[in-house]
Amino acid sequence: MSYEVIRYESAEGVATVTLNRPDVHNAMNEAMRRELTRCFGDIAVDDEVRVVVVTGAGERAFSAGADIREFVEPAAPTRFREQRKRVDFRQAMDRCWQPIVAAIRGYAFGGGLELALACDIRIASDDAQLGLTEINLAIIPGGGGTQRLPRVVGRGKALEMILTGARLSAAEALRIGLVERVVSAERVQAEAGELARTLADKAPVALRYAKESVVKGLELPLADGLRLEADLSTLLRTTDDRLEGARAFLEKRRPKWTGK
Ligand code: COA
Repeated sequence: MSYEVIRYESAEGVATVTLNRPDVHNAMNEAMRRELTRCFGDIAVDDEVRVVVVTGAGERAFSAGADIREFVEPAAPTRFREQRKRVDFRQAMDRCWQPIVAAIRGYAFGGGLELALACDIRIASDDAQLGLTEINLAIIPGGGGTQRLPRVVGRGKALEMILTGARLSAAEALRIGLVERVVSAERVQAEAGELARTLADKAPVALRYAKESVVKGLELPLADGLRLEADLSTLLRTTDDRLEGARAFLEKRRPKWTGK
């Protein structure tokens, strides 16, 4: 895979996607949106990748959001029609069965925070600032922010953030459940890497079904969610890895997963 404004690396089951425009705090332009869509589309069908880490290049930003320079270009109807045809990269992320970890250092504003919200687990540096700041530019979040933020922090807090365009500290983000962990700036990448390796060591099919059960279940009425959980749980009782897990426990050794 070759890219210009993102970087992609993959080793031992962990893929790392890095937004790579540090000169503009990794602001997302059209090229970046296209590359992210292609990248996550490929990851979704790559069985070698078991966990994904998303991060920003440089020390100051995860991403400062959409590239505001593109906002001053005339809004040609043909451009909108082209955009409507395309899959948003955050929807491409939704199709990934692999857990996605956001390693957030510095600024995560607008589309940058929306990208983090499309991840499954968020780790932030203690100097991070996070916000859906679109209202200050007379627009609203259009990359899933108005839908994903209330599902993460609740309706009142989401409305407060979206209507004021406030920039939250990492400590406040942790308090309201917008991020799962806050660590020192130097530790963010290492912490995300360690978490990713922990997840990549789990039995692949169980990892996949665990995410599917939680993520899809949240969109279902409770009875249907419980049915989904029961089905996936029953399916997992048919795997070789389930036998291997039990045998390894009884034989006091590390399991060797085959993904079967
Ligand atoms: N789009 C395009 N360029 C951006 C950008 C964005 N979203 N955010 C930052 N940049 C550019 C700046 O224009 C500047 O470019 P220059 O060096 O050519 O002047 C460069 O990145 C560095 O940014 P700067 O503002 O000088 O850094 P800072 O540390 O003083 O402030 C921010 C950082 C993130 C607080 C500030 O840049 C900002 O508020 N950005 C906009 C965030 C936003 O509203 N995002 C939502 C978009 S919908």
